Amino acid sequence: MKIAIAIDGPAGAGKSTIAKIIANKFNLMYINTGFMYRAVTLKALRNNISASNIDKICTLIQNTDIYFEGDDLILDGENVSHYLTMPNISKNVSSFASISEIRKKLVKEMQKMAEKYDVIMDGRDIGTVVLKNAKYKFFLTATAEERATRRYDELLKKGLQVSYDEILEDIKKRDYLDTNRDVDPLKKAKDAIEIDTTGLGIEDVANKISQYIERR
Ligand code: DC
Repeated sequence: MKIAIAIDGPAGAGKSTIAKIIANKFNLMYINTGFMYRAVTLKALRNNISASNIDKICTLIQNTDIYFEGDDLILDGENVSHYLTMPNISKNVSSFASISEIRKKLVKEMQKMAEKYDVIMDGRDIGTVVLKNAKYKFFLTATAEERATRRYDELLKKGLQVSYDEILEDIKKRDYLDTNRDVDPLKKAKDAIEIDTTGLGIEDVANKISQYIERR
């Protein structure tokens, strides 16, 4: 049977950094499912399709090819990884991620990957929907302020001019949208282990998770 590890939590909780460390340590394929929603958002914005135009979204999603090459996401043959964390995508992605037609298609793609490979996936509904039967489930949290600081530092390192207040506001808005949407909202799975990462370093969290995995 394939190994499946689910990591859920709000934006900026450190999921992707931790998931990459665990993937390397246990030789798993890392799938950043947020990237998949971001890629669809990028494609829609490039085509001037708004989240309210469901007919056009349906056509778009049926004609979209997404796969990973290592950490990179390939959208219709183009490596778009660099664009996916841009503020414009972050601002718009929650609206697209709440569309059930998009979710259905992407969830299917995620499940296909989990059938083929040993995976660690991070997202919002991995433990509750995508990998409901995963043996290992983790739910990472941190205060909105700490998550905003992490995103701010990350974007500064990339050389982007950003405002901390705008990032904090965006994080709070996304928390609200992700938690309150009708389809597959952000929720801790009953059998997930919750880790509050506020004040913890990356290595501390990675060690905690590794210990849980090794113990089972
Ligand atoms: O993890 P992230 O910030 O890159 O996620 C981008 C958006 O996609 C976020 O608003 C929530 C949404 N998302 C989701 O609804 N389900 C997932 N499995 C992953 C991300």
